[in-house]
Amino acid sequence: MTLTRPASAAAHREAVPRRVLMCRPTWFTVAYRINPWMHPEQHTDRELAMRQWQHLYDTYRSLGFEVELIDPVEELPDMVYAANGGFVIDGVAYGASFVYPERQPEAQWYNEWFKQNGFELREPRHINEGEGDFLLVGGVILAGTGFRSDSSSHAEVAAAFNREVITLRLVDPSFYHLDTAVAVLDSTAAGPAAIAFLPEAFDEASQATLRERFPGAIEVDRASADVFGLNAFSDGKNVVVAAQATSMHEQLKDAGYTPVPVDLSELKRGGGGIKCCTLELR
Ligand code: ARG
Repeated sequence: MTLTRPASAAAHREAVPRRVLMCRPTWFTVAYRINPWMHPEQHTDRELAMRQWQHLYDTYRSLGFEVELIDPVEELPDMVYAANGGFVIDGVAYGASFVYPERQPEAQWYNEWFKQNGFELREPRHINEGEGDFLLVGGVILAGTGFRSDSSSHAEVAAAFNREVITLRLVDPSFYHLDTAVAVLDSTAAGPAAIAFLPEAFDEASQATLRERFPGAIEVDRASADVFGLNAFSDGKNVVVAAQATSMHEQLKDAGYTPVPVDLSELKRGGGGIKCCTLELR
């Protein structure tokens, strides 16, 4: 029997290599608990975290990405989750303002990096955790709230980038950042399978909004989301995705994408995955 993919597999997907910012997990550990995944009483293997992170870095390089690095700070073990350091479009960086005191000092290091690397910094007035809660797709900004970013930051982001912002309310503490519940697969347009998401991570109204704005979106199951399958990073064709999210890999293939599995199991102990370790520099 020959296995053929459904017609949608013919969808033409184009890879556009990205420029991203990452932070080595040199000081990674789970020292406190600010999300349900974190268990400070359990041992973390920093060497393993380093090797897994390096594999992600090497994967991006092999896809032709430009990868910038920010120096890790010893007192800030969560700094490896670079997505939270800000939100960047067209050379403008909207800075982060973290909810929890443990992470608040990270903002100044990221802001400093933006300024030193030629980005125009917009200092935030409202609590927001950068690309953890802001995703750009089809010219609009999806903005999460409910656990971390304050919805007042959504208006600030709309003004900073002069773009439409769609507020989405997260309701499950395991999926506390938007990038744990939605993956942007094709950022250029709101076409079929432009995004993947876990419906139950959102309130009813937000689920309806996502289905209306993104007809043909991939809806993943809880098992895929639980292994941080949605915490993926795509170049428009290659989707760097949690190795454990096997059923999601099949959904991606059916939609014409190429899953590129990467295992970040040790960094998951901090409550983050591939996308969390990645801040896109547009
Ligand atoms: N321990 C970090 C926190 O709770 C993990 C951040 C994950 N980042 C993300 N973009 N989802 O803040």
